[in-house]
Amino acid sequence: MTRVGLIGLGFMGKMHLRCYHALDDVIVTAICDADEKRLTDTKGTAGNIEGAEAPLDLSGLALYTDFEKMLAEENLDAVSITLPTFLHRDFTVKALKAGVNVLCEKPMALNTAQCEDMISTAEETGKTLQIGHCIRFWPEYAKTKQIIESAEHGDAVACSFRRLAAPPTWSWQNWLIDQEKSGGALMDLHIHDTDYVQYLFGPPKAVRSQALTGPTGGFDYVATQYIYPEEKAIVAEGGFVNSPCFRFEMSFNILLERGAIVYDCTRDPAFTLYPLEGEPFTPKVEPGDGYSREIAHFIKQIKGQNVPDIITPEDSLNAVKIVHAEKYAAETKKEVRI
Ligand SMILES: NC(=O)c1ccc[n+]([C@@H]2O[C@H](COP(=O)([O-])OP(=O)(O)OC[C@H]3O[C@@H](n4cnc5c(N)ncnc54)[C@H](O)[C@@H]3O)[C@@H](O)[C@H]2O)c1
Repeated sequence: MTRVGLIGLGFMGKMHLRCYHALDDVIVTAICDADEKRLTDTKGTAGNIEGAEAPLDLSGLALYTDFEKMLAEENLDAVSITLPTFLHRDFTVKALKAGVNVLCEKPMALNTAQCEDMISTAEETGKTLQIGHCIRFWPEYAKTKQIIESAEHGDAVACSFRRLAAPPTWSWQNWLIDQEKSGGALMDLHIHDTDYVQYLFGPPKAVRSQALTGPTGGFDYVATQYIYPEEKAIVAEGGFVNSPCFRFEMSFNILLERGAIVYDCTRDPAFTLYPLEGEPFTPKVEPGDGYSREIAHFIKQIKGQNVPDIITPEDSLNAVKIVHAEKYAAETKKEVRI
């Protein structure tokens, strides 16, 4: 039985807990949160994941407000770090040094130096470090990568990605609305698409970006063009929309040489392949959602089972590096090489 602890019982902590509960041979034994009230909050999470709004069962769990005490007392194999981004590096390094495997939420950290500390500590300790780039595991996004790689409908020649949300209102001490703590919407939200672009096509040669300042006091909206030597047209738009009632949207349009793939979480059906000939259809995808699939992958990996190479800590560092390049490109109004 794999023994797991979790630190940070907010929006994502609850999501991770739900995913671990659904797995066999895994037991969450302990939870840590600095805010004691959160340790008794069994409300489910809102959002677009089926079943996530159901109340949580925290019975039988050891509850801590001190992470080091939890690490010392619980004999854990792994921890999920679902803390505000500015805390990712310090808590990941502590857990790895205590001999525990780590699944840390995305973005890996606020800057590349912090990411490099996390990577070098994982290497020194020989423990697994996975960053929660759930979009690589999201069934429709994973299927789209397979379709592109199969070249059944030809190469991808033009892609646009979009991720827009109302400014978040739920976060602990409003840390998400503080550019210094979250990196703003580019680092918190748009990074999902930045990372997916590099997952599909490798890191871009350069980026061109335009950005708008928003509620975090820094950039909270960006439109980026990712430049590749083969001159594919690849763009992504992401950020906070200036309306609290805006409904979250994640979507893409991918033009292939012989067809197109469209995904839009607000449409029904959300996922459609339009072949050059024949009728549009919804490609069959794996069951589950990106969160449960990434957590199952993490557990298999630490159990030493064979898993496909989906996400490495270096990929996660690169995602942070590319988002920083996008911010710099927007500030300087210049093309920035990666
Ligand atoms: N993968 C995704 O799709 C996705 C979605 C949302 C958030 N996230 C990421 O998950 C992370 C957490 O975001 P969230 O929305 O759950 O935030 P949140 O504010 O809802 O939760 C953070 C929790 O951490 C606790 N905390 C703060 N400082 C602590 C400390 N020193 N020790 C112990 N507990 C502490 C808070 O009390 C709170 O319960 C962020 O990095 C965010 O970017 C990822």
